[in-house]
Amino acid sequence: MRPEGPSNLAVDKVSIHSRQKHSLLEAYLRVWTKNVGANWGSDAPSLDIYDLFAGSGWCVEKLYQQDEWPGTALVAAEQLREYPSRRRCLLYLNSWAEEEAERAALLEALQTRVKSIGYERKNRDVHYWSGPLAEVLPEALECHAERAQYPSLWVLDPYAGSDLPWNSVRQIASQVGTFRNRAGQIRSRRPELFINFMTSGLQENIHRQRLVTTVLGCSEAEWRTHLGTVRDEGGSILDALTTFYMQQIQAVYGRPPFVVPVQGKDGNPVSMLFLAVERDAAWHSIRRESIPYFVNWRAAKYEPRKEWVRARHRIDRSVPEGQRQTDLGEYPDLP
Ligand SMILES: C[S@@+](CC[C@H](N)C(=O)[O-])C[C@H]1O[C@@H](n2cnc3c(N)ncnc32)[C@H](O)[C@@H]1O
Repeated sequence: MRPEGPSNLAVDKVSIHSRQKHSLLEAYLRVWTKNVGANWGSDAPSLDIYDLFAGSGWCVEKLYQQDEWPGTALVAAEQLREYPSRRRCLLYLNSWAEEEAERAALLEALQTRVKSIGYERKNRDVHYWSGPLAEVLPEALECHAERAQYPSLWVLDPYAGSDLPWNSVRQIASQVGTFRNRAGQIRSRRPELFINFMTSGLQENIHRQRLVTTVLGCSEAEWRTHLGTVRDEGGSILDALTTFYMQQIQAVYGRPPFVVPVQGKDGNPVSMLFLAVERDAAWHSIRRESIPYFVNWRAAKYEPRKEWVRARHRIDRSVPEGQRQTDLGEYPDLP
């Protein structure tokens, strides 16, 4: 249900497949709110969430405008609200657009919605910012360093791969925090990353070497060699992009990230979701719980929707012999 607030608040108009991304983020955060929360109760560790491409907090499916759901910022706010830890948790939201009026509308929508879901309670802080990544990142890293808290999750969900250079991802992943465990020992951990890696745009711009290598964080020669190897083994450009990004993350985290494809309605991947965690417990919980939840969600909610959208577009209908698709009449209006 849409949070209370004026009906003319800005929304993000998105494709139906983007719901998969929110589903996985929610399932991942449930590991915190349910599992960690159940084990530790109010003693659960603090959790800071940095959403650096936050949008308006609310998504509406753009084609038929019949589906709507919370965006990354609101998913994060709802889960942090539920998290039983009595420690201070920070929600850091950056929402930016080129146009000043759009920027103001996004921020207003975000603030109104986070407030209306009752996020604000004792030990739940929220920090709003509006700037392009290059400007917000130093500020967010400084904020993270000042809090010197572990753990943190960084949600990096750009429209285009080019908006997220590997150098920025590496800078975030390098912020190692320390904490004291139950036995009083000092432990160090890296931020966890939730990245929507926009492969479709990169595939279209694959000839723009400079752009591709900036996003992947390598030299042109390294990329060409990698692409050649993948092709020789029968792989595609998508395979090459995905495996290179995986390797980059694995080199920092010491274990491979989870990689989950987000498919458009034609079944082709639009983007790859990467979840990078260092802790054993987090890694196993995600594997056991979040990924199946995500897959089940897709089967239950996305598949019927896909059929519906396809029917509307008259794709995949059986055509009587001697006729063509275009000879068939319109489908009656679907609900
Ligand atoms: C895919 S949308 C994010 C949607 C949101 N995370 C959600 O799903 O609820 C990407 C957002 O990043 C903003 N944006 C575009 N370029 C950016 C940049 N260089 N730095 C920060 N934000 C940017 C866009 O205006 C847009 O609001």
